[in-house]
Amino acid sequence: MASVICERVIKIYRTGTTETVALRELSMNVREGEFRVIAGPSGSGKTTLLNCIGAIDVPDAGTIIVNGEDITKFDEKQRIEYRKRKVGFVFQLFNLVPYLTALENVELPMTAIGVPREERLKRAKELLRLVGLENKVNKTPYELSGGEQQRVAIAVALANDPPLILADEPTGELDFMTGRQIVRLFRDLHKELNKTIIMVTHDIAMATYADRISILRDGKILETVTPAEKDLATLLFTRADELISSLEEKRKKILEEIKKIEKDFRQGMISLDELVERYTQLKNELKRIESELKKLSI
Ligand SMILES: Nc1ncnc2c1ncn2[C@@H]1O[C@H](COP(=O)(O)OP(=O)(O)OP(=O)(O)O)[C@@H](O)[C@H]1O
Ligand SMILES: [Mg+2]
Repeated sequence: MASVICERVIKIYRTGTTETVALRELSMNVREGEFRVIAGPSGSGKTTLLNCIGAIDVPDAGTIIVNGEDITKFDEKQRIEYRKRKVGFVFQLFNLVPYLTALENVELPMTAIGVPREERLKRAKELLRLVGLENKVNKTPYELSGGEQQRVAIAVALANDPPLILADEPTGELDFMTGRQIVRLFRDLHKELNKTIIMVTHDIAMATYADRISILRDGKILETVTPAEKDLATLLFTRADELISSLEEKRKKILEEIKKIEKDFRQGMISLDELVERYTQLKNELKRIESELKKLSI
């Protein structure tokens, strides 16, 4: 088990001349053995936060203490070791190696830390049994359904017995029933294996299993509650009006910005490269906002 303490974490993405502040002095305290859900609108910084806690990315400021160690001070070598041994990642898109069998996929992280073959095999089989796939150990991802692939991905994440599991919308690509089975699997694993789990989700069913839920908005934790404290639907989906108007405001600003850079380009104030770069970035941002608006309007 691991505790995770984030203190005033700042993460800024810089691409060319544009800066995006993804985390704004975010502070959060996850207890040892806790199952914490992170929810929040698209672009609020959820993935960035997980990437910082998983040492895939390094914050610009602030500290992240995992089990008493400040991982933001790690050098590249320490980060690699940490990722291999201390964290298990589960992503929305199943990160399996397509030409390896389920068994070989689960063996892979153990190979990376030099676990002997016999032991690797034994543990990989055990883990696949744990996630209910003892009959599919020799199948490749192509031969497995989405839910089964995600089960393998969970077994992969558990391979080196990390105290901390980070999951980024693990049910995002699954239908409701399959998603629910995966959620239950996480809950059972959490109880039986005593892992600390931090999971990003939009899924209310998932959130009900959490010990606490943190709502992320604009790079900061808005509030942290237990599922019992509030009606979850309200918590996750109301304030929609407020959210819609803030998204519409952002959308307007981006459209204005696009007009402005087109004008700047015509007047020779920025180069073609700059135009293309900023235009692409703004368009991506616009697409993200529009898809979020679409989700909210149903
Ligand atoms: N590699 C990057 N380069 C530049 N900006 C980035 C990068 N990654 C994320 N961002 C920006 O940082 C902000 C936070 O992004 P992040 O991916 O953490 O959001 P999210 O909450 O995970 O969203 P989603 O629900 O859509 O996955 C967004 O404004 C995004 O555009
Ligand atoms: Mg994300």
